[in-house]
Amino acid sequence: MSHAYIAHAPEDLDTLLEVHEALRKAGINDWYPPADRNTVTKAELQQRTDEAFAMIVLVSGPAMRARDVREDIERASSSGITLIPYRIDRARLSGLIRTRLAGDLKLDASEPGALEALVGETRRAYHRRCPVLAVMNLKGGVGKTTVASQVFGTWQGETGKRVLLIDLDPQYNLTQVFFDMDMADACAARDRSVISLFEKSRLHASGVPSPAADWTSLSVEPFSPTARRDLVHELLGPGGPDGRLDLVSGQFEISKYAFATDADALSAIKSNFLAMIEHLRSQYDLIVFDTNPNATFLTKCCLEAADRVVAPMHPDVYSLRGVRLLNQVIDEHIPQDRRPALSVLFNSVGRQEQSTFEADARNGVYNAAAGFRLSGALMSAALPRSGHLAVRTAPEPETPPWRRLVIHHSRGGGLKQMREALRAVAAEVSKLHAGHLADGEAGVRAGAPERQ
Ligand SMILES: Nc1ncnc2c1ncn2[C@@H]1O[C@H](COP(=O)(O)OP(=O)(O)OP(=O)(O)O)[C@@H](O)[C@H]1O
Ligand SMILES: [Mg+2]
Repeated sequence: MSHAYIAHAPEDLDTLLEVHEALRKAGINDWYPPADRNTVTKAELQQRTDEAFAMIVLVSGPAMRARDVREDIERASSSGITLIPYRIDRARLSGLIRTRLAGDLKLDASEPGALEALVGETRRAYHRRCPVLAVMNLKGGVGKTTVASQVFGTWQGETGKRVLLIDLDPQYNLTQVFFDMDMADACAARDRSVISLFEKSRLHASGVPSPAADWTSLSVEPFSPTARRDLVHELLGPGGPDGRLDLVSGQFEISKYAFATDADALSAIKSNFLAMIEHLRSQYDLIVFDTNPNATFLTKCCLEAADRVVAPMHPDVYSLRGVRLLNQVIDEHIPQDRRPALSVLFNSVGRQEQSTFEADARNGVYNAAAGFRLSGALMSAALPRSGHLAVRTAPEPETPPWRRLVIHHSRGGGLKQMREALRAVAAEVSKLHAGHLADGEAGVRAGAPERQ
């Protein structure tokens, strides 16, 4: 279980203990640095911050003067951790606390019920479950991997929040966007990869055989989640944007589920996967799946875990067919209470003018062919065809992974327009998130499509 980190000045010990006691009574784990900071290393403080689901800041005169508190706030901000300021005296706000926290300062210890309100706010931060999006189309080559990496990498860079990308395609192209094959395969060889979301592996216990080694058996043994850092690869680093962009790397061996015939074992493995995603939802602001282009067991797992599907499509009839099949699979094979909403994104459109196909699709001409109200599911932003999105080279080991994202490229013709297009799609994704992915203008429930 992760904890609430309490940032405080040493002078505020009484309030610290009061807050700690209130959290303990409410069953919420907390952690706070010792009064003598010399007894704790910077690496431990970083780790405690990374593992926190929120940072409570005791806002006081001494806290405003304390370098340690400033460093706590800076660490939390650069890791994208939720900050909960709690005002405990009348000192005038100044410095970093004023610039970073004044806008969020709603809790004041001098007001009745403030401590209960702080506990409530902390509990809400713990139970917050982030949206899960699956980038999917049952047609291959339409830009799923490109959208998963470039659009959601842009969203991360623009918001400074915490994004987890999960490579659920046995081709593991998403992993190869960021790492060379040797590195990706070396991670899979240690089970520090997507298979550990489905089956008990060497990541969960030593002496366990790798589930990747044997294609004929499935391990149905339950397992507890490992520490986030042991599972994911951190794609951001020095010089990169604030927040977190992590990857659960992919591997070919998850193809084994397509060959399995033991329905009970597959059902247990799907439950493991759903439980792991539930667990990860409190540690990120957004989880994104890159998926395989055909309907398999993995497709079902992704659709049951996701709140929304973003389906990239080219402006052509083959892609349209892929979207139709996708909607049909959602409609017919996913239980109603787990059905994700569906949004469709045009990818690889002409830069200058809208094609007739796109215009017709927006005007409802293809709703019947799609089998649902495609025109209502189309996102208004679109991604143009551009050399910036056409992957030609493998990543170089010395280049930081985040540099593979177009939003962080430094130069190139047409880059400005491409970045604007990515930002427009990312902003529309944000709009879809508002109100916990409530159906917005650009989404229709796949389970209740309006048919023509
Ligand atoms: N808007 C774009 N402009 C130019 N090239 C693009 C664009 N979008 C994707 N591409 C290129 O098209 C190819 C296919 O894209 P991508 O791999 O993202 O598709 P996919 O749907 O993930 O494929 P698969 O079904 O095999 O997983 C890649 O080489 C990619 O770089
Ligand atoms: Mg792909």
